[in-house]
Amino acid sequence: MKPETEQISGDLRNILRLKLPTDPRWVDLASISLQDILTDHAFCEQKAATSCISLIQQYPHKEALVSELAPIVTEEWGHFRMVLAELQKRNLPLGRQRKDLYVNALLPFLKKGGGEAERLLDKLLFCALIEARSCERFKRLSEGLDDPYLRSFYRKFMESEAGHYTLFINLADMYMPKEQVRARWQEWLAYEAEIVSGMELRGDRMH
Ligand SMILES: [Fe+2]
Ligand SMILES: [Fe+2]
Repeated sequence: MKPETEQISGDLRNILRLKLPTDPRWVDLASISLQDILTDHAFCEQKAATSCISLIQQYPHKEALVSELAPIVTEEWGHFRMVLAELQKRNLPLGRQRKDLYVNALLPFLKKGGGEAERLLDKLLFCALIEARSCERFKRLSEGLDDPYLRSFYRKFMESEAGHYTLFINLADMYMPKEQVRARWQEWLAYEAEIVSGMELRGDRMH
């Protein structure tokens, strides 16, 4: 078993293989819209928890999936509570959930037809991708914000989401041949890069 830090840096190297790095100006925009970023982040964590719950509901017969994702629900909900506490500490309201343009743009790439295995693969890769991009954004915040407290706050999320990204890929490998997982992952990466390059750069959203 590799030491945890080594494993994390390995995960991060993979994440940096996202085909399009975030525009470096994003972190400056985010730093001046911190309230919006915290609100959007809080709802991202909530959605991460609910999508794990939904996978468990859809695939109750897949034991590894159920066992691996059950603790992630708790972890993502813990993340939501951490962000909520941060808002409350700053006397800021939770705010409202915004339309998630990034996730909505990814959705059409999910296979609707085909076999159950292909559809499961896409759902797992869809989750892996959102984890990877979130991790990349947290990395930007952890390196680019001026406030040392916030830098370490986001570093914790970065490490955690890197682990989740790996977990979703590993789950995909358990249910599908590795070559098929890698090939489809490349297609998702290419699609995601197109989405990100077409999106308006705004500092009030995590994605
Ligand atoms: Fe999270
Ligand atoms: Fe996550």
